Amino acid sequence: MNFAALVEPIYLLSAILFVVGLKRLQSPATARAGNGLAALAMLLAIVATFADQEILPWTGILIGIVLGGSIGGIAARFVEMTSMPQLVGIFNAFGGGASALVAVAEFVASPAVGLSTPGITIMIGTLIGGVTFSGSFIAFAKLQELMTGNPIILPGQNLLSALLLLSVLTLGAATLGVFGEGDPLILFYAFCGLSLLLGILLVIPIGGADMPVVISLLNSYSGLAASAAGFVIGNMVLIISGALVGAAGLILTQLMCKGMNRSLANVAFGGFGGSASVDRADIGQRPVRSADAEGAAAELGYVNSVVVVPGYGLAVAQAQHELRKVGDLLEDRGVDVRYAIHPVAGRMPGHMNVLLAEADVSYDKLYDLDEINDDFVNTDAVLIVGANDVVNPAARDPDSVITGMPILDVDRARRVIVMKRSLSPGFAGIDNDLFYLENTLMFFGDAKASMSDLVREIRELA
Ligand code: TAP
Repeated sequence: MNFAALVEPIYLLSAILFVVGLKRLQSPATARAGNGLAALAMLLAIVATFADQEILPWTGILIGIVLGGSIGGIAARFVEMTSMPQLVGIFNAFGGGASALVAVAEFVASPAVGLSTPGITIMIGTLIGGVTFSGSFIAFAKLQELMTGNPIILPGQNLLSALLLLSVLTLGAATLGVFGEGDPLILFYAFCGLSLLLGILLVIPIGGADMPVVISLLNSYSGLAASAAGFVIGNMVLIISGALVGAAGLILTQLMCKGMNRSLANVAFGGFGGSASVDRADIGQRPVRSADAEGAAAELGYVNSVVVVPGYGLAVAQAQHELRKVGDLLEDRGVDVRYAIHPVAGRMPGHMNVLLAEADVSYDKLYDLDEINDDFVNTDAVLIVGANDVVNPAARDPDSVITGMPILDVDRARRVIVMKRSLSPGFAGIDNDLFYLENTLMFFGDAKASMSDLVREIRELA
C-alpha cells in the first residue's frame, strides 16, 4: 500500500482525535490528556500532509518536529501563567497569518479566479486571516504593555471602522471582477492592506483589561480563517479543525461575557476596566478592620466550615502551594474546606482551576458559583485570596459599573477575611464595599508572604 492511500484515514483519525480532545477539555481532571490528544491529532495531520504533498523529505519533517517541539517546550516552561492570554494572542496572530498566507498564495497562483466559489473563499480567508493577524498583534502588544492598554479612540471610530469594512468588501468584489476590468493583483494587494488595517482599527479602541475576551474572539476568528483556508486548498482536516476552534472560541467568548454580565457589543464598543468614568479619588478612604496572621489563624482554625475564594492576586503572588498547605492544616483540624470558583476570576477562563490543580488541590473540593452561592449563609469563614471584583456586592447596586455581574455572595458568611496588599481596586477599577463591612477583616500583604505566615500561625494553634 502506498502512503497516499493512508492520508485520508489519517485525516479521519485526526478529526476524531480533535473532537475527543476537545470533549476532554471539559473537566480539569481530563483536560491535560485532552490537550495531548488534540496535539497528537495536529501532528498526525501535519506529517501526513507534508509527506503526501512531498513538501519536505522525512528528515526535514523530523527537524521541524524537534525545532517546533523545543520552542513549544521552552515557552511552556518559561511563560508565566499570568502571561497566558498574550501567549494565546500571539498564537492566534500566527494562526490567522498562516491561513491568510494560504489564501494569498492560492490567489497569486491564479489571479483570474473571478467571482466563483474558490474566489469568494480566498477573499474570506484573506479577510478573516488578515484581521486576526493584525488584531491579535495589537491585543498582544496591549497585554504585554508594549503599547498603552487604554482604549485608543479615534474621532468617529465606529463610523470609520464601518466605512473601512465597506471599502474592504467593495475591493474584494472588485478583485473578483464584479465591477469589470482591473488589475486583480493590484486590487488584491490593496484588499490585503485594508484587511490588516481593519484588524488594527477593531482592536485599538478596546481597553487592555477587556483583552482576554477579545483574544478569545480572535481565537475563534483564527479557527474560521483556518477553515476558510481548508476550503481554499480542499483540505478536509483543516476545515474540521478550523470549525472546531471557531465554534469553541465563540462559545468561550460568550461564557466570558456572561460571567461579566456584558454583551459582546459592550466589550467591543463600551469602555470598561480602568474606565475614566469611575471616580477613583474616593477609593479606599473609609476605615476598615484588619487582622494579622495570628488573628486570621484564630478566625479560621476554630470553626467548622471555611470557603476559600481565589482571585487574580493568587496568580500574581503564586501563593497556590502555600494556600494548599493552609487548606491541609485546617482539614487536619477538622475544618470543612471548600474552594469557590467564579467563572471570570483571574484573567482567563479556568485560571483558578489551573492554579489550584498545580498545587494538587483535589477537584472535588472546587465548587462553581451556582453550586456554592446558597451555602455562604451557612459558612463560618470565607478566606478571599487576591480576589476583588468577583466578590464585590456593588454588583447588586443598579448604579454600579458592574451591575448584574454574577458575584460570590461572600458577604453573607459569618466572617470574611480578605488577603490583599491594599485597598486598591481590581480589574473593574471600582471600590469594594465588602472591605468596609462589620464582618470583614482585611489581612494586608502579598498573598504568598501572608499565606506562609498563616501556615506558621495555624501550626501554632492549640
Ligand atoms: P480583580 O478584581 O482583578 O482583583 C485582583 C486583586 O488582587 C486586586 O485588587 C489586587 O489588590 C490583588 N492582588 C494583586 N497582586 C496581589 C498579590 N501579590 N498579593 C495579594 N493580592 C494581590 O480579580 P478577580 O476578583 O479575580 O476578578 C477578575 C476580574 O477580571 C473581573 O473583573 C473579571 O470580569 C475580569 N476578567 C476576567 C476574565 C477571565 S476569563 N477570568 C477575562 C476578562 C476580564 P492589591 O493591589 O491591593 O493587592
